[in-house]
Amino acid sequence: MPTFRAPRGTRDLLPDETPTWTRLERLASDLATRYGYRRIETPMFEQTAVFERGVGEVTDIVEKELFRIAPRSEEAESWSLRPEPTAGIVRAYVQHGMQTWPQPVKLSMTGSMFRYDRPQAGRYRQFWQFDIEAIGDPGPAVDAEIIELGSRYYRDAGLEGVEVLLNSIGDAACRPAYIAELRAHYRDRIDALPPVERDRLDRNVLRLLDSKDPAMTAINADAPRITDHLCEDCATHFADVRAHLDALGVPYRLEPGLVRGLDYYTRTAFEFYLHGREGQQQALGGGGRYDGLVELLGGRPTPGIGFGIGLDRLVLALEEQGRGSSAGAGAPTAVVVGADPADTASRLRIATELRAAGITARADLARRKLGKQLEGASRDGAHFAIIVGDELAAGEVQLRDLPAGTQKVVPVADLAREVARSHAAHRHGPGASD
Ligand code: HAM
Repeated sequence: MPTFRAPRGTRDLLPDETPTWTRLERLASDLATRYGYRRIETPMFEQTAVFERGVGEVTDIVEKELFRIAPRSEEAESWSLRPEPTAGIVRAYVQHGMQTWPQPVKLSMTGSMFRYDRPQAGRYRQFWQFDIEAIGDPGPAVDAEIIELGSRYYRDAGLEGVEVLLNSIGDAACRPAYIAELRAHYRDRIDALPPVERDRLDRNVLRLLDSKDPAMTAINADAPRITDHLCEDCATHFADVRAHLDALGVPYRLEPGLVRGLDYYTRTAFEFYLHGREGQQQALGGGGRYDGLVELLGGRPTPGIGFGIGLDRLVLALEEQGRGSSAGAGAPTAVVVGADPADTASRLRIATELRAAGITARADLARRKLGKQLEGASRDGAHFAIIVGDELAAGEVQLRDLPAGTQKVVPVADLAREVARSHAAHRHGPGASD
């Protein structure tokens, strides 16, 4: 038993796992750029009030899951680790006067979030999100554009069977009447409500709809539906979002019970699930419109919409589908070995020249016998072993193609070019698998 372990609910991402993460982060960054979203980075912690006001005080995220930083005595401010990126990004939008920039301001961020949740498969205390935000566009076309972008991300990542669940949760005009009706529904069943939900009945009744308590399933099944109570503007917006999705050919399923776990949402709300997993609190990603959030955080009234895609759950889902690891990722193209175990300087110099030419190369620096060095090169999955021997005096080395079992003498001056050429031919030639 080691003395120290990673904190509960956190993991080390080990080198065999990180190629998948690197691939997903690159894909996120490429897609965001292609769709016109520019990278933003906000601090990993903010004033707690940013989350209390933004995400909402009566939400699981703020009530139970916020990682509060113990205040140092000289500081009056209360800080918390970010449980999600949207509130911080909107805080930055207001702080930096982005309202004066051409609208919408389209921003993207990929990074760690922190929630003090009960750890289990797919639920961690530190997890990663790919986040997209378009601030300053009332929609409905951008709503569809964002949902299409999220769907494409999963598809390009290689995950099959992702479904979009879609709903509208109304706005300040129509939600109050709906909330009154919803509250009446729960009041009629008050004896069956778990104590936590009873407590929330007056404070934030919408939260009861996405309660994780199994006792709530039946009570929620026949609860009134927000989509039956939308005002004309919200109903039109919702119909237009659907029309745009239909025009783009993006499949979705209407889910009237979908309310999301954060308070800032208005109108469009959506989640991404693996088909058949909808009931399991295992959303792969989710988002929606937040037309009141900029104002709530001190800016002028400005609409916004975005999504957060959980990378941890995506990696788990890819692994389940046998698409997790990128086999061979990180293997060097060439390993420089030598007949004279002591001559590490020559091996290091040749590897350094190959690296300078853009080739992934390792020098065997272990001062062991040539046979052992060659075994190591094969174990690494290298394409070539470059054998430094007596020919070096004439400015030449042996280039061994490990999978092909062939070997030839190559001048050191031509080595990088020859390795690059043969490696490209191997990768892209007839019968190549990658
Ligand atoms: P969220 O639904 O709270 O939305 O989180 C988005 C995704 O993050 C979830 O669907 C899930 O995949 C992942 N996630 C959440 N909590 C955990 C956890 N404890 N462990 C692992 N993965 C988790 C938001 O955060 C909003 N900011 C999304 C958004 C952006 N809405 C508008 N703009």
